[in-house]
Amino acid sequence: MPKSNHLTLQSSNPQSPKHVAIIMDGNGRWAQARGLPRTAGHKQGAEAARKVVKSAVDLGVEYLTLFGFSSENWSRPESEIKDLMNLLRYYLRGETAELHRNGVRLKVIGDRSALADDIVKLIENAEELTVGNDKITVVIALNYGGRQDIVSAVHALMREHGEVSKLELESLLPQYLSTKDIPDPDLMIRTSGETRISNFLLWECAYTEFVFTDTLWPDFGFGDLEQAIEDFAGRDRRYGGVKSSKV
Ligand code: IPE
Ligand code: IPE
Ligand code: MG
Repeated sequence: MPKSNHLTLQSSNPQSPKHVAIIMDGNGRWAQARGLPRTAGHKQGAEAARKVVKSAVDLGVEYLTLFGFSSENWSRPESEIKDLMNLLRYYLRGETAELHRNGVRLKVIGDRSALADDIVKLIENAEELTVGNDKITVVIALNYGGRQDIVSAVHALMREHGEVSKLELESLLPQYLSTKDIPDPDLMIRTSGETRISNFLLWECAYTEFVFTDTLWPDFGFGDLEQAIEDFAGRDRRYGGVKSSKV
């Protein structure tokens, strides 16, 4: 077997995921089903995001990553993008103190250069304020794309190290991704019945377990997270090895 950092992965059957990532999808359909504008779905979706942090803490999750806005979401109508950015402002202004009180460390991944200056300031303030907290790390992906993140990482790595071997590239690359210092997700959940990754955490999901649920994101609650974690507990993670019971 070729030498690679996959050798460091152990075949195991963990009971609970340390890192859960969520593709929060279905806000628009939630609103449409109620004859409401899409914004209403995003507003309810932000409320579900607020609640899922607490559920994750209660279920012993150590890292929770939420896909808030993809690199490709800029292709939406301008008015929807404006609504989403305003909601983000509202969330960061209103929730940062509460997150801090609850021991949450907040981190934002993705390309900030396209975000408005005041939003970048709010993000920086929230990250600085909560940097010492250790109850849970909540990672919000904003203007994030997995391919873009890998390309930026390779670019930065080459600037620093020049040409490197494939082996070195594989082992150095994770330190240049925006998820550096964050363990790879154990469990990825996507809501709303879609069964695709939509350019989320491409490198990091190499051995992630996936759970797809038909629940639309605004309806996602404690029970849904609990169910996904229960599904995860029944999985046998082999990392290319053999069934753990036969090891
Ligand atoms: C997810 O809900 C929120 C974002 C992508 C920002 P959608 O807005 O994608 O909802 P649907 O998929 O149209 O129902
Ligand atoms: C993925 O959802 C992005 C977020 C949840 C932020 P999309 O709704 O943008 O994904 P597609 O377009 O259905 O693949
Ligand atoms: Mg969608």
